[in-house]
Amino acid sequence: MTTVLAPLLLINIGQLVTLRDAGPQLGPRRGASLSELGIIQDAAVLCLGGKIVSIGATKDALRDPWLKKNRKKVVEIDCVGRVVLPGFVDSHTHPVFTQPRLVDFEKRISGASYEEIAAAHGGIRSSIEGVRKATKAALAQRVSAALADFASHGTTTVEAKSGYGLSLDSEVKSLEAIRLAARAWPGTVVSTFLGAHVVPPEYRGRSQEYVDLVCKEMIPAIAKRKLAQFVDVFCDRGAFSAAETMQIFAAAKEHHLAVRGHVGQLSETRLGPLLGYDPASLDHMDYVNDADLSALAASCTVATFVPGANYFLGLGRYPNARHFLESGVAVALATDYNPGSSPTLSMPMAMSLACTHMKMSPAEAIAAATVNGAWALRVANRKGTVEAGKDADLALLDVRDYREIPYWFGSNRCALTIANGVASGPLHAGEKT
Ligand code: NIG
Ligand code: FE
Repeated sequence: MTTVLAPLLLINIGQLVTLRDAGPQLGPRRGASLSELGIIQDAAVLCLGGKIVSIGATKDALRDPWLKKNRKKVVEIDCVGRVVLPGFVDSHTHPVFTQPRLVDFEKRISGASYEEIAAAHGGIRSSIEGVRKATKAALAQRVSAALADFASHGTTTVEAKSGYGLSLDSEVKSLEAIRLAARAWPGTVVSTFLGAHVVPPEYRGRSQEYVDLVCKEMIPAIAKRKLAQFVDVFCDRGAFSAAETMQIFAAAKEHHLAVRGHVGQLSETRLGPLLGYDPASLDHMDYVNDADLSALAASCTVATFVPGANYFLGLGRYPNARHFLESGVAVALATDYNPGSSPTLSMPMAMSLACTHMKMSPAEAIAAATVNGAWALRVANRKGTVEAGKDADLALLDVRDYREIPYWFGSNRCALTIANGVASGPLHAGEKT
């Protein structure tokens, strides 16, 4: 079925946050370039066939000869002075689960830590049974519901990990569920295989055997079926060691899959050996050796912070973002949407936490949630900025100043989302305000 997308014209945008080309560098934003938002006041954007075709001042757009001739065919959205920015790129989520983990939640409130809960049969392992028992269709339905919720918060690109099946069949089922849901969603999904999330109970005490299964059976099967673009590993105390992570990264590379990692959430892992595998991103980064920051800054790897997890786990401690930024590391922000450590899919919430607890400026938080998220997923050629030729991925927020996006925490200000040229949200395309 081919969908014919109506041309969309957004006019009277108070601040159009373009994040367009910030200089000669080709790569993720670092240092001062993270604050260059490329704002156009009183702006317009024209989208055609799912792509952005032009951006500029509203008065110039309205004088455009093509538009004058075709005005009747165009769906016009009057943004009445509000803010439009690139749709958020959420580069770290775990949407394939069946139940919230409410017992863990209560235990933590009573003082148990994330690791204590995991050791007492809670944590990631307690999400396995639900996924193993669920049908693919039921999982796909849950992922679809989450994707709709992501879009309603302004997110147009979502990285989605498997990682609660932890057997060949259940991991394949999880990734197929992601694929089914992705096909029915106008936004863009990037899939990641996270078979190395934890060692499942039946391999208790035999972690090397499980790593061999991941490397010799799961990765080849997933690569053959083209079910994932990335392979991820939870490299930390209680999950997988650096040596096991490297074995898994090497197997991924052998099958032409790129890699990313959960690193430094609970304990420090030296980054040098991992960087040798050119990971697209290393995420969490609460515990990082200062001596590794220069190597990280010299690489193309993005450090992705997920402050929703620090918040929800009730930690007083957040990654030292200023140190990363001052060292020239490219940083991104993501929600880490999952049932155990971060049940939020709001990028503005992640940005708000980054501003208040990690001292990132609102401008840095916006760049980290858009263009650098796109770099972290290796889709920056299509996503993350508002420029002619890029995918028509936009979020219209009911605010007058971009700094209000992380300022108003805990409420959803997204009025309209456009994903690959398809509009959805409380303010529908064609509606004039
Ligand atoms: O990123 N740390 C590993 N994975 C998730 C938690 C998953 C879970 O607790 O279910 C995270 O925080
Ligand atoms: Fe995670």
